[in-house]
Amino acid sequence: MQDYIEIIKKRRSYYDLSEDVPLSNEEIKYLIEDVLNTTPSHMNSQTTRVVLLFDEKSKDFWKRVNETYDNKINEEKFHGFYHAKGTALIFIDKDEIKEQEKNIPLYKEYFETWGQHSAAMVQLNIWQALRDEEIGASNQHYNPHIDSWVKDLYEIPDSWELIAEIPFGKIQEEPEKIDKKSIDEILKVIE
Ligand SMILES: Cc1cc2nc3c(=O)[nH]c(=O)nc-3n(C[C@H](O)[C@H](O)[C@H](O)COP(=O)(O)O)c2cc1C
Repeated sequence: MQDYIEIIKKRRSYYDLSEDVPLSNEEIKYLIEDVLNTTPSHMNSQTTRVVLLFDEKSKDFWKRVNETYDNKINEEKFHGFYHAKGTALIFIDKDEIKEQEKNIPLYKEYFETWGQHSAAMVQLNIWQALRDEEIGASNQHYNPHIDSWVKDLYEIPDSWELIAEIPFGKIQEEPEKIDKKSIDEILKVIE
């Protein structure tokens, strides 16, 4: 285990991935379980859902995604996703969000946003927890174009809305440094 801030600093979007990761499928499953059991959610409601695809199931997923896009996904990107160890599909249970809107009308207009926030926290925790184990990942959005076959293929409840796809695998190389805004532009300190 590294210092938390070091993990945050190491996390990047990794596109070029391969299967030979240091953890077993079971260990990755436990890691995701820990993330799901510990990540905060609005009113502790845990509206985020994850479907984990490994090995051939992940490859089959990316083949179908590419087909949905007439096999026109950027070749390099597709190659990395296809050869990844697995993919985490992230959903929000919209039935639960609707229930919250009904039960707590005072915050009705916020639950949709809070559901997205809660799901984003899960996504980032997955991304960083994997990176801590030397597994690279990225955050993809081929939804909503893939939604209908994803629901059928994996027998996903109708109320689950797909919001992101996270392919993960062995890091082939570190991405180049990217520019960031000047800290003064994005942080204001008042003492
Ligand atoms: C909310 C969100 C949505 C993103 N969507 C995509 C996406 O659809 N496809 C993609 O390749 N990267 C996506 N990214 C990755 C960002 O482009 C990337 O995190 C950003 O450029 C910073 O680079 P880094 O992740 O290497 O630090 C997304 C990131 C976030 C936080």
